[in-house]
Amino acid sequence: MNTAPDPDRVILFDTTLRDGEQSPGISLNPSEKLEIAQQLTRLGVDVIEAGFPIASPGDFEAVQTIARRLDSGPEGPPVIAALARAQAPDVDAAWNAIKDAGRPRIHTFISTSDIHIVHQFNSTREDVKGQARAAVAQARALCEDVEFSPMDATRADVEYTAEVLQAAIDEGASTINIPDTVGYAVPHEYAAFLTRLYELVPDLHSVVLSVHCHDDLGLAVANSLAGLRAGARQVECAVNGIGERAGNTSLEEIIMLLRTREADLGLRTGAVPREIARTSRLVSRLTGYVVQPNKAIVGRNAFAHEAGIHQDGVLKERSTYEIMDAREVGLDGSGSLVLGKHSGRHALAQAMSELGFELKGQALNVAFRRFKEIADRKKQVTAMDLEALVADELREQVAGYALRWFEVEASSRRPPHATVAVTGPDGEELTGSFTGDGPIDAVFRAVNAATSVDARLRDFRIEAVTGGQDALGETSVVVEVGGVAGSGQGVSTDILEAAAQAYVRALSNAVRRRALADERAAPEREIVRAP
Ligand code: KIV
Ligand code: ZN
Repeated sequence: MNTAPDPDRVILFDTTLRDGEQSPGISLNPSEKLEIAQQLTRLGVDVIEAGFPIASPGDFEAVQTIARRLDSGPEGPPVIAALARAQAPDVDAAWNAIKDAGRPRIHTFISTSDIHIVHQFNSTREDVKGQARAAVAQARALCEDVEFSPMDATRADVEYTAEVLQAAIDEGASTINIPDTVGYAVPHEYAAFLTRLYELVPDLHSVVLSVHCHDDLGLAVANSLAGLRAGARQVECAVNGIGERAGNTSLEEIIMLLRTREADLGLRTGAVPREIARTSRLVSRLTGYVVQPNKAIVGRNAFAHEAGIHQDGVLKERSTYEIMDAREVGLDGSGSLVLGKHSGRHALAQAMSELGFELKGQALNVAFRRFKEIADRKKQVTAMDLEALVADELREQVAGYALRWFEVEASSRRPPHATVAVTGPDGEELTGSFTGDGPIDAVFRAVNAATSVDARLRDFRIEAVTGGQDALGETSVVVEVGGVAGSGQGVSTDILEAAAQAYVRALSNAVRRRALADERAAPEREIVRAP
């Protein structure tokens, strides 16, 4: 039997929880990050970059939680990577956060472009090379699996970058990642850069070469593909393409690109494509980043045919206008599975099991109670509704405040007035009222009055889970408390209720993170700005 590793197997490195989480307005708590990591594991990614532990106590806790609690995937447990600048405290923090993982990796980086070396770090090429060498050596003494990235490589001098890579390999880095940090490269140039690095550093053939591309010119996937064709075998990406500025290479696009064109490209991943749609919805729901309708692979319209001639063709033979089957990416069933108010507990359990949630005992009771409440208000409960609802109901919430009830008086003739009751951290009922600019503003400020927390709204989004007048509304809120962000979600047929729920959860998250930061006497998020 041939057990040699497949040379054309591409390692999927997901950075949704690190680079992705750097998108403005995203603030995930540790249990939300763990939930995303579990889903990424079901999707079959090989490496999960769980965060940047030195950045804040919250980031450290999230990475540690994932390292300690993540289950195994279809091909065993994924590697858990933590990011560290090429500085001793960063490398120590990264190691402390991931050391309990089955397969830990330290990912350390430093810029090799003169633009960064001179203008950002006020340093010299020689110093940077020394720092890279020392950081990799320190990381390698702690962890067998070390990745090194020369940041802003595509705008750096290739000969100098090659020298730094040689130093990193000499010190034991086993993955070398080439970031197009500012999304400036074009495919032929990126491929030529990698080819030149292979010539200058023959030892690159004995490590894994990786690509990490940003989408500022809309070329992240194209550049990543060019890099893979030039010999890279790890691709760094994020779900729905989220990430710094215009985002990272989209994970789902890479998976389906390599799968759909496998015969021509000859490259494979270990992904389970039918988990793509669910992963995309979960990340969108928890980050509040709505997926554009025409987004490749996961957009609402990615498999919709509007033109009559296309519809006619697809009805006769799907391949006339479709290069992929929606079912391959898990988009089947979401419209067809329907429950109503007469559906029983067994039907709910069965429907949930089809969606991949095995509910029993208390979890099933909770889900059933919530399902009945919705089914009373909404004629048809679809699979998408169930997924939103049950994920909302069963999600581990941060201990803190909980919404009890609210009342809003709204009229076009006078400012709206809201009264809200919440349960406080010690179980006491707290009430507050406010007259606001609009009903949602009044509810949010009434929550502040009830909790005596001066939370500032940073982001508020609302989306219908499905179409129709009685659609469930899904809200996502980010607030800031004393300079620390927290996010929360809510789901209901009543958008005011969904908004109030999301606001109270976001506030609880921010209060908890603020307390954590105070405890460690370091202001959350302000310690280090992620790269
Ligand atoms: O874009 C970038 O350069 C990065 C590195 C930290 C890999 O995210
Ligand atoms: Zn990046």
